[in-house]
Amino acid sequence: MEFKKPNHIEIIKSKKSNFVNTFLEKMRIERTSASNLAHVDFENLTFGSVFTDHMFVCKYKNEKWQEPEVIPYQPLSFEPSMSVLHYGQSVFEGMKAYKDDEDKVWLFRPDQNFKRINRSSERLQIPVFPENYFFEGLKTLLNLDKDWIKPGIGNSLYVRPFVFSSQACVQASPSKEYTFIIICCPVKAYYGGEVNVLIAEEFSRAADGGIGYTKAAGNYGAQFYPTALAQKQGYQQIVWTDAKSHEFLEEAGTMNIFFRIGDILLTAPTNDRILDGVTRKSVIQIARDSGIEVEVRPIKIGEIVKASENNSLKEMFGSGTAVVINPIKSFGYKGVNYKLPELENPFATQLKDNIMSIQYNLTEDPYGWRVAVD
Ligand SMILES: Cc1ncc(COP(=O)(O)O)c(C=O)c1O
Repeated sequence: MEFKKPNHIEIIKSKKSNFVNTFLEKMRIERTSASNLAHVDFENLTFGSVFTDHMFVCKYKNEKWQEPEVIPYQPLSFEPSMSVLHYGQSVFEGMKAYKDDEDKVWLFRPDQNFKRINRSSERLQIPVFPENYFFEGLKTLLNLDKDWIKPGIGNSLYVRPFVFSSQACVQASPSKEYTFIIICCPVKAYYGGEVNVLIAEEFSRAADGGIGYTKAAGNYGAQFYPTALAQKQGYQQIVWTDAKSHEFLEEAGTMNIFFRIGDILLTAPTNDRILDGVTRKSVIQIARDSGIEVEVRPIKIGEIVKASENNSLKEMFGSGTAVVINPIKSFGYKGVNYKLPELENPFATQLKDNIMSIQYNLTEDPYGWRVAVD
């Protein structure tokens, strides 16, 4: 697969600086000479549609990852036989970079995303990516595109690492060539407004022994049709249930799900159908450390309906990198819409504030989750 090279690229040699280590001297950097930054309306960003000036690219061929490079964001060109288009060997990650009031850039638990993309890759028979390539690539890219990260709570840079099979070959077997890319887009809050969810009764997202726990592209594509049907009924998201009985609540589109019954927070255990969310595990830890009782156990829809009917269901919320924590207003099940009460000081707000204070360097980070990009 080739990259189309626009004419405006100026090739520079990588230099040593405070964030550059020996590895970077081997990484080629092409800095754009035509930054798009001045043309972006940061007040009116549509999630995931505006991209920064540069991207990180690394190719796998001859059974090894080649030297990575950071180049201007640009279109790719490929043959119609490119393997990923036919067999879907493609996985991705989603993480964010934050800027504090002193212009310092931070990542939140990036080690988790690194481990997870390789877990996903292994399941899709994609070669795992080297740790130093990932972190040096990320740092180089974020330093080059630092001005795209705006300070202020809610502003961040969404970082999208992804890897796909890029060999020109339609044989139904693992590709011999892969491409690993990181692109970034400036974002404000992900979902605005209300989130009403529909509990899945017919469609399934994942099966036992399948790829539900990975961030495989196909897991997302397969949700679009049932979600479009749910949207026609006025629901923004589907809460997926187990494929066998449709009784156990699992997760939503790009969020893990929490329920508050009385003062106890409940969430499903992760398994081979559910994504092991970084935000989910952070919420569990912070909640427990704040004195909130958290139960990680299978949750039946019947229990939630009953709790809603006897008014002990206080909150439902989703957790994920894009949304951080997104309160759920209502859920639909078997043709009935169950509304959540409006609380004065919900757990969702307290937990979101706590996590964001760590992410934006507004508070101590007792967990060591915040990682400086320098
Ligand atoms: C299916 C699914 N569940 C849960 C999450 C939340 O995971 P995280 O908190 O790591 O973003 C995501 C988003 O990445 C997701 O795609």
